[in-house]
Amino acid sequence: MHYKLALLGFGNVGRHLARLLMRKQDELRQRYEITFSVVGIATGRHGAAIDPDGLDLEQALQAYESGHGLEPLSRLPVDDSLDFIHKCGADVLFENSPVNHATGEPAVTHAHTALELGMHVVTANKGTVVHAYRQLTNLAAARGLSFRFESTVMDGAPIFSLFRHNILAAQLKSIRGVLNSTSNLILGVMEQGGSFEEGVRRAQEMGVAETDPSADIDGWDAAIKVAALTTVLMGIPTKPQDVQREGIRAITPEMIAQARADGQRYKLVCSARRVGAAVETRVRPERVGIESPMYGVDGTTSIIQFETDVLGLLSVVETDPGPETTAYGLLADFVNIVT
Ligand SMILES: NC(=O)c1ccc[n+]([C@@H]2O[C@H](COP(=O)([O-])OP(=O)(O)OC[C@H]3O[C@@H](n4cnc5c(N)ncnc54)[C@H](OP(=O)(O)O)[C@@H]3O)[C@@H](O)[C@H]2O)c1
Repeated sequence: MHYKLALLGFGNVGRHLARLLMRKQDELRQRYEITFSVVGIATGRHGAAIDPDGLDLEQALQAYESGHGLEPLSRLPVDDSLDFIHKCGADVLFENSPVNHATGEPAVTHAHTALELGMHVVTANKGTVVHAYRQLTNLAAARGLSFRFESTVMDGAPIFSLFRHNILAAQLKSIRGVLNSTSNLILGVMEQGGSFEEGVRRAQEMGVAETDPSADIDGWDAAIKVAALTTVLMGIPTKPQDVQREGIRAITPEMIAQARADGQRYKLVCSARRVGAAVETRVRPERVGIESPMYGVDGTTSIIQFETDVLGLLSVVETDPGPETTAYGLLADFVNIVT
Protein backbone atom coordinates (compact mmCIF):
# COMPACT_ATOMS: atom_id res chain seq x y z
CA MET A 1 0.00 0.00 0.00
CA HIS A 2 1.28 3.47 -0.87
CA TYR A 3 1.02 6.37 1.60
CA LYS A 4 1.47 10.09 1.05
CA LEU A 5 3.24 11.70 3.98
CA ALA A 6 3.53 15.34 5.03
CA LEU A 7 6.09 16.70 7.50
CA LEU A 8 4.99 19.80 9.40
CA GLY A 9 8.15 20.89 11.23
CA PHE A 10 11.53 20.15 9.67
CA GLY A 11 13.78 20.90 12.65
CA ASN A 12 15.92 18.39 14.53
CA VAL A 13 13.17 15.80 14.71
CA GLY A 14 11.61 16.38 11.28
CA ARG A 15 14.97 16.11 9.51
CA HIS A 16 15.97 12.98 11.44
CA LEU A 17 12.62 11.50 10.43
CA ALA A 18 13.34 12.32 6.78
CA ARG A 19 16.72 10.56 7.03
CA LEU A 20 15.18 7.56 8.80
CA LEU A 21 12.44 7.28 6.16
CA MET A 22 15.13 7.14 3.46
CA ARG A 23 17.14 4.57 5.42
CA LYS A 24 14.10 2.35 6.09
CA GLN A 25 12.45 2.67 2.68
CA ASP A 26 13.46 -0.79 1.41
CA GLU A 27 12.79 -2.46 4.75
CA LEU A 28 9.27 -0.99 4.92
CA ARG A 29 8.53 -2.26 1.42
CA GLN A 30 9.99 -5.73 1.97
CA ARG A 31 8.64 -6.42 5.47
CA TYR A 32 5.32 -4.57 5.43
CA GLU A 33 4.59 -3.82 1.76
CA ILE A 34 4.51 -0.13 2.68
CA THR A 35 5.67 2.38 0.11
CA PHE A 36 5.49 6.12 0.61
CA SER A 37 6.16 9.50 -0.89
CA VAL A 38 6.66 12.72 1.06
CA VAL A 39 4.28 15.14 -0.65
CA GLY A 40 4.88 18.14 1.60
CA ILE A 41 7.28 19.71 4.09
CA ALA A 42 6.54 22.89 6.04
CA THR A 43 8.59 24.97 8.47
CA GLY A 44 8.22 28.20 10.42
CA ARG A 45 10.90 30.38 8.81
CA HIS A 46 12.33 28.19 6.02
CA GLY A 47 9.30 28.08 3.78
CA ALA A 48 7.25 25.09 2.65
CA ALA A 49 7.14 22.80 -0.34
CA ILE A 50 4.35 20.67 -1.81
CA ASP A 51 4.76 18.25 -4.69
CA PRO A 52 1.90 15.79 -5.23
CA ASP A 53 4.33 13.46 -7.05
CA GLY A 54 6.69 13.35 -4.05
CA LEU A 55 9.59 15.52 -2.96
CA ASP A 56 13.20 14.44 -3.18
CA LEU A 57 14.14 14.22 0.52
CA GLU A 58 17.90 14.59 -0.09
CA GLN A 59 17.20 17.76 -2.03
CA ALA A 60 14.85 19.06 0.66
CA LEU A 61 17.44 18.41 3.40
CA GLN A 62 20.08 20.16 1.38
CA ALA A 63 17.82 23.14 0.64
CA TYR A 64 16.96 23.50 4.32
CA GLU A 65 20.46 22.98 5.68
CA SER A 66 22.11 25.29 3.16
CA GLY A 67 19.69 28.02 4.30
CA HIS A 68 18.03 28.38 0.88
CA GLY A 69 14.62 27.35 2.16
CA LEU A 70 12.08 24.97 0.66
CA GLU A 71 10.05 27.26 -1.61
CA PRO A 72 12.02 26.55 -4.83
CA LEU A 73 11.02 22.86 -4.50
CA SER A 74 7.29 23.59 -4.31
CA ARG A 75 4.84 23.07 -7.14
CA LEU A 76 2.13 25.01 -5.29
CA PRO A 77 2.21 28.34 -3.43
CA VAL A 78 1.81 27.89 0.35
CA ASP A 79 0.65 30.78 2.57
CA ASP A 80 1.03 29.30 6.06
CA SER A 81 0.89 26.04 7.99
CA LEU A 82 -2.92 25.71 7.76
CA ASP A 83 -2.86 26.41 4.04
CA PHE A 84 -0.14 23.72 3.83
CA ILE A 85 -2.33 21.16 5.60
CA HIS A 86 -5.27 21.95 3.33
CA LYS A 87 -3.22 21.69 0.15
CA CYS A 88 -0.75 18.87 0.84
CA GLY A 89 -3.13 15.97 0.12
CA ALA A 90 -1.34 13.62 2.54
CA ASP A 91 -2.64 10.44 4.17
CA VAL A 92 -0.47 10.99 7.27
CA LEU A 93 0.65 14.27 8.85
CA PHE A 94 3.75 14.22 11.06
CA GLU A 95 3.36 17.25 13.35
CA ASN A 96 6.73 18.26 14.81
CA SER A 97 6.48 21.96 15.48
CA PRO A 98 7.82 23.45 18.77
CA VAL A 99 5.92 22.61 21.94
CA ASN A 100 3.74 25.25 23.57
CA HIS A 101 3.42 24.26 27.24
CA ALA A 102 0.66 26.75 28.00
CA THR A 103 -1.88 26.04 25.25
CA GLY A 104 -0.53 23.37 22.90
CA GLU A 105 -1.05 25.73 19.94
CA PRO A 106 -0.59 25.87 17.01
CA ALA A 107 0.04 22.11 17.06
CA VAL A 108 -3.45 21.29 18.37
CA THR A 109 -5.07 23.19 15.50
CA HIS A 110 -2.67 21.56 13.03
CA ALA A 111 -3.62 18.09 14.27
CA HIS A 112 -7.34 18.91 14.42
CA THR A 113 -7.35 20.29 10.88
CA ALA A 114 -5.46 17.30 9.49
CA LEU A 115 -7.87 14.84 11.12
CA GLU A 116 -10.87 16.82 9.80
CA LEU A 117 -9.34 16.49 6.34
CA GLY A 118 -8.97 12.71 6.68
CA MET A 119 -5.28 12.36 7.61
CA HIS A 120 -3.80 10.23 10.39
CA VAL A 121 -1.73 12.39 12.74
CA VAL A 122 1.58 11.34 14.31
CA THR A 123 3.39 13.77 16.59
CA ALA A 124 6.28 14.22 19.01
CA ASN A 125 4.67 17.42 20.30
CA LYS A 126 3.61 16.98 23.94
CA GLY A 127 1.32 20.03 23.77
CA THR A 128 -1.19 18.12 21.64
CA VAL A 129 -1.47 15.37 24.26
CA VAL A 130 -1.79 17.45 27.42
CA HIS A 131 -4.11 20.03 25.89
CA ALA A 132 -6.24 17.99 23.49
CA TYR A 133 -5.76 14.23 23.94
CA ARG A 134 -9.44 13.36 24.33
CA GLN A 135 -10.61 15.79 21.64
CA LEU A 136 -8.08 14.57 19.05
CA THR A 137 -8.49 10.88 19.91
CA ASN A 138 -12.29 11.12 19.65
CA LEU A 139 -12.11 13.04 16.40
CA ALA A 140 -9.71 10.47 14.96
CA ALA A 141 -11.95 7.58 16.05
CA ALA A 142 -15.04 9.23 14.57
CA ARG A 143 -13.24 9.49 11.23
CA GLY A 144 -11.71 5.99 11.32
CA LEU A 145 -8.26 7.55 11.73
CA SER A 146 -5.48 7.47 14.33
CA PHE A 147 -3.83 10.12 16.47
CA ARG A 148 -0.48 8.77 17.79
CA PHE A 149 2.20 10.37 19.95
CA GLU A 150 4.68 7.70 21.11
CA SER A 151 7.64 10.07 20.84
CA THR A 152 6.24 12.65 23.24
CA VAL A 153 7.66 10.86 26.31
CA MET A 154 10.99 9.02 26.40
CA ASP A 155 11.63 9.68 22.72
CA GLY A 156 11.16 6.49 20.69
CA ALA A 157 10.86 4.03 23.59
CA PRO A 158 7.49 2.24 23.52
CA ILE A 159 5.59 3.57 26.53
CA PHE A 160 2.11 4.39 25.27
CA SER A 161 2.04 1.45 22.85
CA LEU A 162 3.17 -0.86 25.66
CA PHE A 163 -0.08 -0.10 27.47
CA ARG A 164 -2.16 0.09 24.27
CA HIS A 165 -1.07 -3.32 22.97
CA ASN A 166 0.59 -5.34 25.72
CA ILE A 167 -0.32 -4.39 29.28
CA LEU A 168 -4.05 -4.91 28.99
CA ALA A 169 -6.70 -5.19 31.71
CA ALA A 170 -4.25 -3.65 34.18
CA GLN A 171 -4.71 -0.84 36.70
CA LEU A 172 -1.81 1.58 36.64
CA LYS A 173 -1.28 2.67 40.25
CA SER A 174 1.81 4.82 40.02
CA ILE A 175 4.59 6.04 37.77
CA ARG A 176 8.07 7.18 38.79
CA GLY A 177 10.91 8.18 36.55
CA VAL A 178 13.77 10.39 35.45
CA LEU A 179 12.55 12.00 32.25
CA ASN A 180 14.55 15.20 31.78
CA SER A 181 18.02 14.81 30.27
CA THR A 182 19.25 18.35 30.89
CA SER A 183 18.60 18.23 34.64
CA ASN A 184 20.17 14.80 34.93
CA LEU A 185 23.28 15.98 33.08
CA ILE A 186 23.61 19.05 35.28
CA LEU A 187 23.28 17.01 38.48
CA GLY A 188 25.91 14.59 37.11
CA VAL A 189 28.37 17.42 36.38
CA MET A 190 27.83 18.78 39.91
CA GLU A 191 28.56 15.33 41.36
CA GLN A 192 31.91 15.48 39.54
CA GLY A 193 32.69 18.78 41.31
CA GLY A 194 31.48 21.11 38.53
CA SER A 195 29.18 24.07 39.12
CA PHE A 196 25.52 24.38 38.15
CA GLU A 197 26.53 26.79 35.34
CA GLU A 198 29.13 24.34 34.04
CA GLY A 199 26.43 21.68 33.97
CA VAL A 200 24.17 23.96 31.93
CA ARG A 201 27.03 24.71 29.50
CA ARG A 202 27.81 20.98 29.10
CA ALA A 203 24.15 20.25 28.32
CA GLN A 204 24.09 23.08 25.77
CA GLU A 205 27.33 21.91 24.12
CA MET A 206 25.84 18.44 23.76
CA GLY A 207 22.77 19.96 22.08
CA VAL A 208 20.52 18.63 24.84
CA ALA A 209 19.58 21.95 26.46
CA GLU A 210 18.04 24.94 24.71
CA THR A 211 19.78 28.34 24.67
CA ASP A 212 17.26 29.18 27.38
CA PRO A 213 17.30 25.99 29.50
CA SER A 214 14.75 27.23 32.05
CA ALA A 215 11.96 24.88 30.87
CA ASP A 216 14.24 21.96 31.83
CA ILE A 217 15.82 23.43 34.97
CA ASP A 218 12.50 24.62 36.41
CA GLY A 219 10.82 21.27 35.79
CA TRP A 220 8.36 22.32 33.06
CA ASP A 221 9.56 19.72 30.54
CA ALA A 222 9.29 17.02 33.19
CA ALA A 223 5.87 18.31 34.29
CA ILE A 224 4.42 18.19 30.79
CA LYS A 225 5.65 14.59 30.46
CA VAL A 226 4.01 13.64 33.76
CA ALA A 227 0.82 15.34 32.56
CA ALA A 228 0.92 13.40 29.27
CA LEU A 229 1.45 10.07 31.04
CA THR A 230 -1.30 10.73 33.57
CA THR A 231 -3.75 11.92 30.93
CA VAL A 232 -3.26 8.95 28.64
CA LEU A 233 -2.26 6.01 30.85
CA MET A 234 -4.37 6.83 33.91
CA GLY A 235 -7.24 8.45 32.01
CA ILE A 236 -7.12 11.55 34.24
CA PRO A 237 -6.80 14.77 32.21
CA THR A 238 -3.85 16.67 33.65
CA LYS A 239 -2.23 19.94 32.59
CA PRO A 240 1.44 20.75 33.24
CA GLN A 241 0.22 23.54 35.52
CA ASP A 242 -1.58 20.93 37.69
CA VAL A 243 1.68 19.12 38.47
CA GLN A 244 3.39 20.10 41.76
CA ARG A 245 6.68 21.32 40.39
CA GLU A 246 10.08 22.09 41.84
CA GLY A 247 13.14 22.27 39.56
CA ILE A 248 16.83 21.84 40.38
CA ARG A 249 17.88 25.50 40.82
CA ALA A 250 18.02 25.23 44.60
CA ILE A 251 20.35 22.21 44.61
CA THR A 252 23.80 23.27 45.87
CA PRO A 253 27.17 21.48 45.59
CA GLU A 254 27.00 21.00 49.38
CA MET A 255 23.67 19.17 49.10
CA ILE A 256 25.08 16.95 46.33
CA ALA A 257 28.19 16.19 48.42
CA GLN A 258 26.09 15.35 51.48
CA ALA A 259 23.92 12.99 49.45
CA ARG A 260 27.04 11.32 48.04
CA ALA A 261 28.45 10.92 51.55
CA ASP A 262 25.20 9.18 52.54
CA GLY A 263 25.41 6.84 49.51
CA GLN A 264 22.65 8.64 47.62
CA ARG A 265 22.25 10.73 44.47
CA TYR A 266 19.95 13.62 43.59
CA LYS A 267 17.60 12.95 40.70
CA LEU A 268 14.81 15.12 39.31
CA VAL A 269 12.05 12.61 39.96
CA CYS A 270 8.77 12.64 38.04
CA SER A 271 5.88 10.89 39.75
CA ALA A 272 2.17 10.26 39.52
CA ARG A 273 0.21 8.26 42.08
CA ARG A 274 -3.46 7.37 41.86
CA VAL A 275 -5.38 8.37 44.98
CA GLY A 276 -9.00 7.22 44.72
CA ALA A 277 -10.45 8.80 41.60
CA ALA A 278 -7.75 11.48 41.57
CA VAL A 279 -4.02 11.55 40.99
CA GLU A 280 -1.12 13.22 42.79
CA THR A 281 1.46 14.40 40.29
CA ARG A 282 4.86 15.80 41.15
CA VAL A 283 8.25 16.81 39.79
CA ARG A 284 10.93 17.48 42.39
CA PRO A 285 14.57 16.72 43.19
CA GLU A 286 14.81 13.67 45.44
CA ARG A 287 17.66 11.73 46.99
CA VAL A 288 17.62 8.14 45.76
CA GLY A 289 19.63 5.23 47.12
CA ILE A 290 21.32 2.36 45.36
CA GLU A 291 18.21 0.19 45.78
CA SER A 292 16.36 2.43 43.29
CA PRO A 293 16.70 1.74 39.54
CA MET A 294 16.93 5.53 39.15
CA TYR A 295 20.26 5.59 41.03
CA GLY A 296 22.29 4.32 38.07
CA VAL A 297 20.69 6.56 35.44
CA ASP A 298 23.44 8.83 34.13
CA GLY A 299 23.68 11.59 31.56
CA THR A 300 20.87 11.76 29.03
CA THR A 301 19.56 8.27 29.82
CA SER A 302 15.97 8.16 31.04
CA ILE A 303 13.94 5.68 33.02
CA ILE A 304 10.31 5.08 33.84
CA GLN A 305 8.92 2.66 36.40
CA PHE A 306 5.32 1.43 36.44
CA GLU A 307 3.42 0.00 39.41
CA THR A 308 0.33 -1.93 38.34
CA ASP A 309 -2.11 -4.33 40.02
CA VAL A 310 -0.90 -7.22 37.87
CA LEU A 311 2.90 -7.08 37.42
CA GLY A 312 5.84 -6.47 39.68
CA LEU A 313 7.50 -3.06 39.33
CA LEU A 314 8.24 -2.72 35.63
CA SER A 315 10.99 -0.39 34.41
CA VAL A 316 11.84 0.84 30.93
CA VAL A 317 15.29 2.39 30.53
CA GLU A 318 16.39 4.19 27.39
CA THR A 319 20.11 4.76 27.10
CA ASP A 320 21.25 7.99 25.45
CA PRO A 321 18.14 8.89 23.46
CA GLY A 322 18.23 11.72 20.91
CA PRO A 323 16.35 13.13 17.93
CA GLU A 324 17.11 9.95 15.97
CA THR A 325 15.26 7.83 18.54
CA THR A 326 12.43 10.37 18.56
CA ALA A 327 12.25 9.94 14.79
CA TYR A 328 12.03 6.19 15.27
CA GLY A 329 9.02 6.58 17.60
CA LEU A 330 7.28 8.53 14.84
CA LEU A 331 8.11 5.89 12.25
CA ALA A 332 6.93 3.10 14.56
CA ASP A 333 3.63 4.95 15.11
CA PHE A 334 3.17 5.23 11.34
CA VAL A 335 3.87 1.52 10.78
CA ASN A 336 1.56 0.60 13.68
CA ILE A 337 -1.26 2.66 12.23
CA VAL A 338 -1.12 1.24 8.73
CA THR A 339 -0.36 -2.43 9.39
N1 LIG B 1 14.50 17.06 19.93
C1 LIG B 1 14.06 15.93 20.49
O1 LIG B 1 14.81 14.96 20.67
C2 LIG B 1 12.62 15.78 20.89
C3 LIG B 1 12.23 14.69 21.69
C4 LIG B 1 10.88 14.49 21.99
C5 LIG B 1 9.95 15.41 21.53
N2 LIG B 1 10.34 16.50 20.78
C6 LIG B 1 9.33 17.42 20.30
O2 LIG B 1 9.32 17.39 18.87
C7 LIG B 1 8.95 18.68 18.36
C8 LIG B 1 10.01 19.15 17.39
O3 LIG B 1 11.27 19.26 18.09
P1 LIG B 1 12.59 19.74 17.35
O4 LIG B 1 13.71 19.45 18.28
O5 LIG B 1 12.60 19.21 15.96
O6 LIG B 1 12.34 21.32 17.29
P2 LIG B 1 13.02 22.36 16.31
O7 LIG B 1 14.37 21.87 15.90
O8 LIG B 1 12.87 23.70 16.94
O9 LIG B 1 12.10 22.31 14.98
C9 LIG B 1 10.80 22.82 14.96
C10 LIG B 1 10.32 22.90 13.52
O10 LIG B 1 9.02 23.47 13.49
C11 LIG B 1 9.00 24.59 12.61
N3 LIG B 1 8.00 25.54 13.08
C12 LIG B 1 8.11 26.50 14.02
N4 LIG B 1 6.95 27.15 14.17
C13 LIG B 1 6.09 26.61 13.27
C14 LIG B 1 4.75 26.87 12.91
N5 LIG B 1 4.04 27.82 13.51
N6 LIG B 1 4.19 26.13 11.93
C15 LIG B 1 4.90 25.15 11.30
N7 LIG B 1 6.17 24.86 11.61
C16 LIG B 1 6.75 25.58 12.58
C17 LIG B 1 10.41 25.12 12.63
O11 LIG B 1 10.65 25.93 11.51
P3 LIG B 1 12.13 26.48 11.18
O12 LIG B 1 12.85 25.25 10.67
O13 LIG B 1 11.93 27.47 10.09
O14 LIG B 1 12.67 27.01 12.44
C18 LIG B 1 11.18 23.80 12.62
O15 LIG B 1 11.24 23.28 11.32
C19 LIG B 1 8.77 19.59 19.58
O16 LIG B 1 7.41 19.67 19.91
C20 LIG B 1 9.57 18.88 20.67
O17 LIG B 1 9.09 19.17 21.96
C21 LIG B 1 11.65 16.68 20.46
